[in-house]
Amino acid sequence: MHRLNNKRILLGITGGIAAYKTAEMVRHLRKAGAEVHVVMTPAACEFITPLTLQALSGNPVHTSMLDPKAEAGMGHIELAKWADAVLIAPASADFIARMAAGMGNDLLSTLCLVTQAPVYLAPAMNQGMWLDVATQKNCETLVGRGVKMFGPDNGYQACGDVGPGRMLDPDVILQNLAEQFETGLLAGKKVVITAGPTREAIDPVRYISNHSSGKMGFALAAAAADAGASVTVIAGPVNLETPDRVTRIDVADARSMHAAAMEHTANSDMFISCAAVADYRPETIAESKIKKDPGAPDQTMTIKLVRNPDIVASVAAKEDRPFVVGFAAETNNVVEYATSKLQRKKLDLVIANDVSDKSIGFNSEENAVTLIGPDFEEPLAKSSKQLLASQLIELIARYYKEMK
Ligand code: C5P
Repeated sequence: MHRLNNKRILLGITGGIAAYKTAEMVRHLRKAGAEVHVVMTPAACEFITPLTLQALSGNPVHTSMLDPKAEAGMGHIELAKWADAVLIAPASADFIARMAAGMGNDLLSTLCLVTQAPVYLAPAMNQGMWLDVATQKNCETLVGRGVKMFGPDNGYQACGDVGPGRMLDPDVILQNLAEQFETGLLAGKKVVITAGPTREAIDPVRYISNHSSGKMGFALAAAAADAGASVTVIAGPVNLETPDRVTRIDVADARSMHAAAMEHTANSDMFISCAAVADYRPETIAESKIKKDPGAPDQTMTIKLVRNPDIVASVAAKEDRPFVVGFAAETNNVVEYATSKLQRKKLDLVIANDVSDKSIGFNSEENAVTLIGPDFEEPLAKSSKQLLASQLIELIARYYKEMK
């Protein structure tokens, strides 16, 4: 079921007694890490209430195309584009007929016309309806258009008949659905990434910081989410959009980044420390703006700095530690210094980059790094931070599996 982690499932429910089984299905989908939006036809609402499915999915249930409130939230076109997969369970004979005819006379049929995502149907109806030539022809038409059928099952029916037409067991439907997705390298893993600079306040208006843009950390977060992980990025002050499917926690200074990292790495599988954390902070933060003496142009000022906690070393020292990956930005003896950092901070892997080259690293669009482990080095050629991030996530995931 790991394959469903982070996936966006649009569950369509049509009118049939099997609709009551969808409540359990939504619960299982959520447990597997999927995000679920439920769309119900009016007939489905006669069998199970939207309120039940709203509570279980954690999202408002969509029942009508002409609902201005729902359209103002996530409109029907947006909803169709949002989905990674559309699962219609139970799919009634009537719905199958309308879909085969290409109709858009309610929200669910319209969504099926709009969506580019694969559509899966779990038919459920009386055996006579299922075996009817019209239904069989409609299913053939849909399968010809690339729609996949899950079931139906054969056996005892709610109406008393025995035969084909029972909805597949919800567990089997979800198993079938999960198998439609490729396994990501980090499927089901919880990954925490720090990114960007930290800001260490001097007074209410001034701070000490660095040039980190957060681009590399955010690119890694996006690549890890693409690989199927549940990703939390702990971001210092950066001017970047949160990647799709990534949870973001904003922090300002090293101590709050430290607290957030300690908290969110509990029960995590991997920690990637990409942030450029300030090593020092002013010992005291002035309560009000520090004023210069206008009559003393030669005046000097001294700020006493104290050490910040080492976040990556603290996470690596945890008893129940995740797999820990650090960064080492160096200007000379890059590999040598990075290797000593790996040992000193007890990291599993370290990503070294040469920041003396202005075209890579801090604030630039490109980077070139060497991935270093206890007994190996893998240089990665200069490329965009996005491409590099997916190469790195692939390598990190491979070593994670080998070294764990
Ligand atoms: O010691 P140095 O700052 O070069 O180590 C870099 C690595 O340590 C990076 O992974 C960085 O995110 C992490 N680091 C940290 N907390 C600090 C300083 C650095 O997590 N206070």
